[in-house]
Order: sequence, then C-alpha cells, then structure tokens
Amino acid sequence: MRNLRSIGIAAGLALSVSVPALNAFASEPTVPPVPATFPAEGKIKYVARDSVLEFKALPEYHEPGWVTEKYVKAGKLPPVKDRLPKEPLVFKTANMPDGIGVYGDTMRHVIGGRPEGWNYGAGQTQGWGGIDIGLSECLTRTAPLFQVEAKDTEPLPNLAKSWDWSADGHKLTMHLVEGAKWSDGVPFNADDVMFYWDDEVMDPNVSPLNGATQETFGVGTTLKKIDDYTVEWTFKDAFPKQHLYAMAYGTFCPGPAHILKPQHPKYSKNTYDQFKNAFPPEYMNMPVMGAWVPVEYRADDIIVMRRNPYYWKVDEKGNQLPYLNELHYKLSTWADRDVQAVAGAGDFSNLEQPENFVASLKRAAEPNAPARLAFGPRLIGYNLRLNFSANGWGNPDERGQAIRELNRNEDFRKAVTMALDRKALGDSLVKGPFTAIYPGGLSSGTSFYDRKSTVYYPFDLEGAKAELAKAGLKDTDGDGFVNFPAGTAGGKNVEIVMLVNNDYTTDKSLAEGVVAQMEKLGLRIVLNGLNGTQRDATQYSGRFDWLIRRNEQELTSVVQNTVQLAPVGPKTSWDHRAPESGEVDLMPFEKDLVDIVNKFVSSADNNQRASLMRDFQKISTEHVYNIGLTEYPGALIVNKRFSNIPQGTPIFMFNWAEDSIIRERVFVAADKQAKYELFPEELPGKPGDKGPM
Ligand code: GLA
Ligand code: CA
Repeated sequence: MRNLRSIGIAAGLALSVSVPALNAFASEPTVPPVPATFPAEGKIKYVARDSVLEFKALPEYHEPGWVTEKYVKAGKLPPVKDRLPKEPLVFKTANMPDGIGVYGDTMRHVIGGRPEGWNYGAGQTQGWGGIDIGLSECLTRTAPLFQVEAKDTEPLPNLAKSWDWSADGHKLTMHLVEGAKWSDGVPFNADDVMFYWDDEVMDPNVSPLNGATQETFGVGTTLKKIDDYTVEWTFKDAFPKQHLYAMAYGTFCPGPAHILKPQHPKYSKNTYDQFKNAFPPEYMNMPVMGAWVPVEYRADDIIVMRRNPYYWKVDEKGNQLPYLNELHYKLSTWADRDVQAVAGAGDFSNLEQPENFVASLKRAAEPNAPARLAFGPRLIGYNLRLNFSANGWGNPDERGQAIRELNRNEDFRKAVTMALDRKALGDSLVKGPFTAIYPGGLSSGTSFYDRKSTVYYPFDLEGAKAELAKAGLKDTDGDGFVNFPAGTAGGKNVEIVMLVNNDYTTDKSLAEGVVAQMEKLGLRIVLNGLNGTQRDATQYSGRFDWLIRRNEQELTSVVQNTVQLAPVGPKTSWDHRAPESGEVDLMPFEKDLVDIVNKFVSSADNNQRASLMRDFQKISTEHVYNIGLTEYPGALIVNKRFSNIPQGTPIFMFNWAEDSIIRERVFVAADKQAKYELFPEELPGKPGDKGPM
C-alpha cells in the first residue's frame, strides 16, 4: 500500500485500483529507477512550427543543368515551371542547417528487409529502411516536428497545403496542393485521395501497410470530395485535431489512382490478391509523389531510385528539389547497415541494435572517421505483447485458447513481469549506461512520460512463482515446467509460442533472454522466428501467443499512431483485435484505456492531455498491459559529406530519421561530391518500363 500511495496511484485517479494481491509479493511495486545518462547525446535546436516551410509562387525556378539540356530542350519534358504546382512547397532557408544546397551525388542506404512489391496501399512492404517513407507523400507531415516545442506542435502541411475547421468543429476542409503531378506527369488531385479512402481504407478486403482503418481517423469519420483540390472530413467529435497526425506517414499517403484503380477488384476482374500483387518488385517506375522513383531492382542486391522530375517542392531560390540525384538501397542486413555506415561504405544508419554500439562508437571517434554519430533520447524500446483475444482472433486451437485465457489473467501477467531480470536483459545487449529498466507503457523519452505514474514490479523470482501458483499453474509431472490444470488442454505443460523477428540480432537476443528467464519461472516458451514480412503477416492475422515487438510511435511520441495505444477499433491494436465477425473482447481495465485514448484524441487542452496520459501510464503498467523488456537511445549515423542534417535528429520519434532529416533538402557540397551515381544524367521512365527514360 505504502508504495502505491506514494506514487499517487490512489490519489490522482477517478478509476478504482485493486490492491489485495499486493500481500503476496515479497517485494512491492514501485517506480522504475532513474536511468543513467549516456555519452554523445546530440542537442536539438528548437524552432517555431511555421519556420519550416510555406506554399508560394516564386519568380523563377531552376533544375539541374543536365535535365534542361538532355530532357527539356529535347522535348522529352516540359519546362520546370510547368512541371511545378502553381504554389510549390517552399522550404525556408533559415530552417536549413546549412542553407540552400547544390545538385548532385547519391545517398547510399543499406537495409535488411526485402521488397514484396510497390502496392503499399494494399499492404505490401518495400523492405523498410526508408524506401516507402521516401516514395510516400502524405496529407500532413510530422517527422520534422521533433525540432518543434511540444506546445507549438501541430502536423505540418504537405499534400494538404492548408485546412479550416467548421465553426462547430465537426468538419475539416482540406485544400490540396494545386497542379502537383505524379512522377509520370499525371496530375495529382482529390481522386487520388478518394481512391485511397474509399477503395483501400474503407474496403474491408484491403489493408494498407500501416493498417489504416476508418477508426484510425475516429469512429464514424467520413471523407468526401468537394472539388478537384478540396476534400472534406466529417468527425463525430468536435475539433479532433489529433487526427491530423493520422493523416501523416504511414496512414494517409495516397497512391497513384490512375495506375491502381484499373487493377482494383471493384473496377476490374481481378481478385484482391491479384490487385495486391499487380506491382511486383520488378515493376519499375511506379509513379510516386516522393522525391525519387525506383528505376532498378536486382534481387538481394540493390534498389536504385532517380530524381523525380515532377517533384513539387523547392528551396527559396526556386531550385526544384531534391538536391540528391540518386538513392541506393543495398539489400543486405540491418546489422550490416551500421557496419557499412561507420566504415563509409554506406551513408546512413539508425544505430538501433545495442550489440553494435561499442564498435560503432569507437570507429566514429577516430579522427579520420567517415561518418558522424550522435545519440538521441532513449526512445528505442521493446515490449513483450500477449495475445488478449479470447474470442477467436487468429483461430487458436485448444492449447492456444488456454494461453489466451492465461494472458488475460492478471496474476499470470504479474508472474511474468516479476520473473524478468531487466538489468540482465539490457546487459546482454550492451554493457554500460545505455539500457534502462523499462516496465512497459510509454517510453521514457516522450514528453508525455511521467516516472511517478509508472508502476514497476521489480525482479523477484520467488514472488513471481507465488503469482503463477495463484493463476492456478503447478508443475504436476515434476519436469520443471508448470502444467495446465487437469481438464484444460490435457493437463500438459504450458507451452507458449513466441513470435520473433529474425531480421534483427537484438530481437533474437531478447527472445533468447526471455526464454531462459521464463524457464526459471517454470514457463516453457517456444520461439517462432520469422523474417520481418512473414512475422508481420503472422502478427496481423493473430497467429501468436506472445510476441516481441520494438515500440512504435504510439509509445515514443503518443500523438502519432495514438489509436494503437488501446483497442479503440476492431483492427487498431497490435495484440488485441476482433475476429473476422465480432467485437474486441475488452478486459475491464482495457475499457478504461480505450476511454482515456478516446478522450485524449478529442481533447485540445494540453494539461488535460498530459493528465490523461499519466492515467494511461498508471493503468497500463499497474495491470501489466504490455510487458517492457528494455529501452535505450539510438544514434544517427550519417556520412560527413552530407549537409542540412538537423542537429540532434532522433532516429525515431514521430517517424524514423529517414523522414526527420528531410532528405529532399539534404545535399553534398560541390567539393565533397562522390561519384556513386549508377545512372548519371538519367531520369525515370514510363510506369512499368524497364529502367530509366
Ligand atoms: C526499419 C529499420 C529502422 C528504420 C525503418 C524505416 O524498421 O529498422 O531503423 O530504418 O525501417 O521504416
Ligand atoms: Ca510439467
């Protein structure tokens, strides 16, 4: 009781908290220890939100000389002023760390994923690592907000250049950028936005890659076209400004309707599978609104992108962006990304796997180091997530169903969390000050985090065993693993299948640590290690008992992906969804979490929102909603020849650093340019054609 009171659980909460179980603990719940400070943390330079960009016409426009010479003069492309919108998006010079740039050079990415195809809107991954981020342009943009003070924060305009709210706050009118074109020259307009909404988000047979559903934008929300450059949202709540975040990457980035629509089952004889697979990785020159277009793909080798001649953003001198002519994505492993970036064979990495910290720091500290390395806040975290659906999501068998019931048992969850030695888990990744004790819930690096609202059940194996016994589990056959009670799943050993992403060393190390620690508790865990794509598919279809998941934006920013904090919709949660027909079988405390999230989304009052998130943190950690494993800072590694990389860019916050650094304005000074372009002076070709123009 003492500890709970002193952390304000009973006091600040309207919701009642149950405490009787406390007597069974050898050690009482407390708050997590203050994490250690770590070296080389970059400092962010804060700016006002409106200092980043604006939309306006400029007196003149420019492009790389070779584009004019080789393409415009030859009649292959209209002049640059006719390729740009009436009022392009203009990045303000004062917000550029190194100012106006020059054209040329390549950014060489290395990634661990593999592309399934280009149909993002139908759920295909392109292999991550910044590929889809660079192809996608979305109604709003949030990644650069890491440099804006939290109080000033509202998503930046992007494809939606402005918006107005109706007097009653239920309607939001968005004005789309006028005269912008897809990379093949076809106009972008409200039909692209409506195709995404009507035929991808609202079509139950289509699931966009980041899982947008109607609820992502609020229960009952609708969208309609007013004219070619105006769309109107209608919301059940008044002024739900929070939804502007859902209109950013990765939940509102429309694809090219002129290419996609003819393949969609509603407008063709295709099945949904055929639609999804209509644009395999070999399909080149997929029209995009992003700054570079895929022109070359070699399996297990490389994806090459060339500058989009119709890109609709410029600098204040009227130079059409991007500055960089080419992007590479070498198809390798995530660990290799770190190695290549510090060695100078790659240009960029999000250093996120602690196993590579020491070697990378050492190399980056050498005087001739090719790359800069700077740590950001402690925003990379991992949770153990339990499948909470007891009404059929993923069709579990008898054993699986019995595990779901256990997952929903609070004594069981307390046993699991108390049996975790988080210090040992962190140390197994990297020794030193980086990893911190993370009980679960919001990440300690977000502005919404409140340590005093965080309930931590310290490591206590004996206490954990007592909780397991309370959950009704005993080792009836004396082999060291607890059994189901007679009458459940044949009274066999409890066996839990844990889904793990095999593409990351860190995920595998954590998984092995969890298996070993659970064995000491008497719980047998079986690993289901899959590559990223298969793993995601397995998770989305609910075929897991437990899984290990790296935290996403709902825990690192709270305002991005907010609806994923609790099962507010049938398909919005990572670990608790409704079966095909049916509802989410919420546990009582989940209902409280859903209420909090809904209130948060509809509230515009910053103090109320902060207090709601303190409540969220208390309830979710007290009931052990997700089970934190560890958290630590990540570091951005970028080759030193690049300019305009904002100081202190976190590798992850509202989005990944590939977006936060605003790649379209990154450049290489003339005297530092390297000759990495594989397709010099080439531009993308026609959709579906092989190679460049
Ligand atoms: C993967 C990587 C991240 C980041 C994202 C971008 O998840 O692990 O570091 O590059 O892709 O989507
Ligand atoms: Ca047994």
